[in-house]
Amino acid sequence: MDAPSIIQAFQRAGQGQVFAFYDQLDQAARDRLLCEAAEIDLAEVELLNRTLLAKGTASVNLEGLNPAPYEPLPENGGNGSEWARAKGAGEAALRAGRVAAFVVAGGQGTRLGYDGPKGTFPVTPIKKKPLFQVFAEKIRAAGLRYGKPIHWFIMTSHANHEATEAFFQENKFFGLDSAKVHFFRQGRMPAVDFNGKILLETKGSIAMSPDGHGGSLRALERSGALDLMKRENIDTLSFFQVDNPLIRVIDPAFIGFHLLRGSEMSSKTVTKAYPEEKVGHFCIQNGKLIVVEYSDLPMALQRETDATGKLRYLAGSIAIHALDREFVRRMATGGEGVSLPFHRADKKIPTIDAAGNPVKPEKANGVKFEMFVFDALPFSRQPIVIETRRADDFSPVKNADGIDSPKTSREDQMRQFARWLKLAGTPVETDATGLPKIEIEVSPLFGYDEDSFLDSIGKRSLKREELTHGPLSLE
Ligand code: UTP
Repeated sequence: MDAPSIIQAFQRAGQGQVFAFYDQLDQAARDRLLCEAAEIDLAEVELLNRTLLAKGTASVNLEGLNPAPYEPLPENGGNGSEWARAKGAGEAALRAGRVAAFVVAGGQGTRLGYDGPKGTFPVTPIKKKPLFQVFAEKIRAAGLRYGKPIHWFIMTSHANHEATEAFFQENKFFGLDSAKVHFFRQGRMPAVDFNGKILLETKGSIAMSPDGHGGSLRALERSGALDLMKRENIDTLSFFQVDNPLIRVIDPAFIGFHLLRGSEMSSKTVTKAYPEEKVGHFCIQNGKLIVVEYSDLPMALQRETDATGKLRYLAGSIAIHALDREFVRRMATGGEGVSLPFHRADKKIPTIDAAGNPVKPEKANGVKFEMFVFDALPFSRQPIVIETRRADDFSPVKNADGIDSPKTSREDQMRQFARWLKLAGTPVETDATGLPKIEIEVSPLFGYDEDSFLDSIGKRSLKREELTHGPLSLE
């Protein structure tokens, strides 16, 4: 579209303020603004303004809501032979090269307050390896274990794309084949004020932000990632978030359940640590699997127990999924009338006033629109929820300190390494929470899960001082 048509379209949509300073810009700045404007789907913004900004927007409907069933771990009553069968099926899929890893790394990471892509943040206890390195080594090790290198898709944002790619280049892709690491940007959405007017960040740029991790489904399609998967005979994506170093990026039992049950979208769950834990809850409503956020689930339900005193809403969501390739395509292209809803988040959005002066708001002055990947669950066929041990899969780095911080995550990694050592019959002294007295780090290339660790540890003799004084670093 040419400049006048873009500007007219904005004016017709009541969004002419986007071009209020157009005449003051030089040609390069005008072109940049036009490019940003052309990215915006004005009809979509209009719809969101009508549905999400309108006063009295209905709160979440809780009618007919029940806890979702899930497949428990063998130690919690699950069927051990089913788990073994699932693991076998997952391993076969990995040996056949049907599975790719997929990390969403387009978030802004404001809570951590770290300057740079979150994946470059150092997380391991001794070597201070960055998150991306931890995942890269797990993916590399799993590829070697199953005799088939694993493709890795990395979703970035406009803000961190170049920095992310450069980080992998500088670090020689951490030993991965660069041809099997695929970066693509997620989409953006404009922020609006409380009257639905698109906000400018400067005279020549629109306040745009990433469209949420749910934007990954559209971005996988738009970037050609799904076509690439098809060409490579990959039908399953192992989806995870960039802030969780404990994650088993490749988990054969989870993948096996997903495939054996014919699921299009599977999710891992951990049981809530306490009733009010701030996690999404897996629920069933009208026969559909959904995730209800803690903020939308009344406290009485969060605390509700059954006749045996067990929490009814026990299954918490930890944002780990397995996704079928063609399901992602259906969601992305709106086939069969499906699409992810947007959520509104009221935020402080840096903007400019009518005179063009910068405004740093003290309180929320507008709305960002985001999609969440778990909203795809009710559209999927045969979705399943599989229990995992929190200690094996989940310790995110969200905040600079306190819960879910670099410190808690480092300690959880060390607890995991100590547990593996004990499992191998090596005495390591720990406190009551399982935290070892010495510093321990296990490279994913030595062992990235219980099985691979136990295979390696038999070949390595440990010195007494290593175990008593530390640090113990297994490479
Ligand atoms: P969070 O919900 O923790 O958001 O993202 P965030 O933006 O990273 O951090 P805060 O809230 O600003 O502190 C969970 C995961 O989803 C990804 C993040 O990169 C992280 O892996 N994500 C989030 C995206 O990829 N895109 C988004 O638009 C939002």
